[in-house]
Amino acid sequence: MKSYNITTLDDFIIKRQKDYPEAKGEFSRLLHHIGTAAKMVGSKIRKAGLADILGRAGNINVQGEDQQKLDIYADEVFTSALLSSGECCGVASEENQNIITFTHEFALKGKYIVCMDPLDGSSNIDVNVSVGTIFSIYRRISEKGSVVTDEDFLQKGTDQVAAGYIIYGSSTMLVYTTGNGVNGFTLDPSLGEFCLSHTDLKMPASGSLYSVNEGNYIKFPDGVKKYIKYCQERDPSTSRPYVSRYIGSLVSDFHRNLLKGGIYMYPSSEIYPRGKLRLVYECNPMALIAEQSGGKASDGYNRIMEIKPDSLHQKTPYFVGSVEMVNRVEEFIRLNG
Ligand code: AHG
Ligand code: MN
Ligand code: MN
Repeated sequence: MKSYNITTLDDFIIKRQKDYPEAKGEFSRLLHHIGTAAKMVGSKIRKAGLADILGRAGNINVQGEDQQKLDIYADEVFTSALLSSGECCGVASEENQNIITFTHEFALKGKYIVCMDPLDGSSNIDVNVSVGTIFSIYRRISEKGSVVTDEDFLQKGTDQVAAGYIIYGSSTMLVYTTGNGVNGFTLDPSLGEFCLSHTDLKMPASGSLYSVNEGNYIKFPDGVKKYIKYCQERDPSTSRPYVSRYIGSLVSDFHRNLLKGGIYMYPSSEIYPRGKLRLVYECNPMALIAEQSGGKASDGYNRIMEIKPDSLHQKTPYFVGSVEMVNRVEEFIRLNG
C-alpha cells in the first residue's frame, strides 16, 4: 500500500481543536474559511498579468464585468468568507476607512472579529513579485448579540487569539499561530489543499539579512542610521557585513527573515514621522508570529503588542525579526535616538 502522510490545513485544525475540550469548532470554521478565501485570491493573483489581455482596471473585460483592483478583490473575498463562516461579527481592513459590522442574526452571535491587510505589497503585483495577506483574530469584547464597535478592534496585540499571513509566492503558503507555536502550510495546486510543510517554525536568534528601504536613509533617525552602518561593517567574529534584502512587501520580507534569520525595519523618517506600517492589521499580527517563533517586534522602544491602538489605521515605526538583531537596533536607538 502507498503511504499517505499528508496533513491538510483542515486536518490540522481539527487535530488542534481536540486539544481544547471546551472548543466548539467555531474557531476552526473561521480558519477554514480564511483558507478557502486564500485559495480564491491566490488563483486570481496567478492570472494577474492576464489583465492586460482581458482588460485593465477600470475597463470592461470580455465578460462585460468591471476589472477590479486586486486589493479590492481580495478585500471582498476575505470579507465575504468571514461573513459566511458565521463565526465573525465584524472586520477591519486596510481597504475601508471604518469597521464593517455584520448585522445578520447568525453573525451577531459570532465570537470573533478579524483585522486584515487583504493584499500586502500590492505595488509589486504589476512586476510579478510576491505579495501577501495578513490577518489577526480577536475575541469580541462587546456583548454577544450586539453590533460590534471600534473598541472591539482597538485591543492590544497581546489580546490576539490568532494571527497569520498568506504569501502568494513561487508557491502559496499559509502561516499561522494560535499562540502555541507557528506552523506553515503550502498549497498543493494539484490537490487544491494547504498541506502542512513547516512544523513548529523557529526564527533563528540571529541572522545575516537586514531589510529596510535604504532610499529613505538620510531621513532616518540617528540610531537607525548608525545601526545600518553597523550592519554594513566587517566583523570577522560575526556574520557582518550582513546581506541587504528588501522586496517592499512586508509579508515576503518577513517570511524570508523568519526562515533564514534577519531583521525587517520600517523606521520613522522625516517623510513618515510614524513610519508607514499600520499597527492593527500589519504590525501586530506579524509581531505575534515573530514572538511565537522566538523572534521579537518593537517600535524601537516598546514591545509592539503592548501598544494600545487609538485608531484603526494608526501607524508605528517597526522593527521585527531575529531577537538578537531587534535587541541590537533598540540599543542603537536608545543611545542615539
Ligand atoms: P500595502 O501594499 O498593503 O499598502 O503595504 C505596503 C507596505 C509593506 O508591505 C512594505 O514593506 C512597505 O509598504 C513598503 O514601503 P516602501 O515602498 O516605502 O519601502
Ligand atoms: Mn500592507
Ligand atoms: Mn494592502
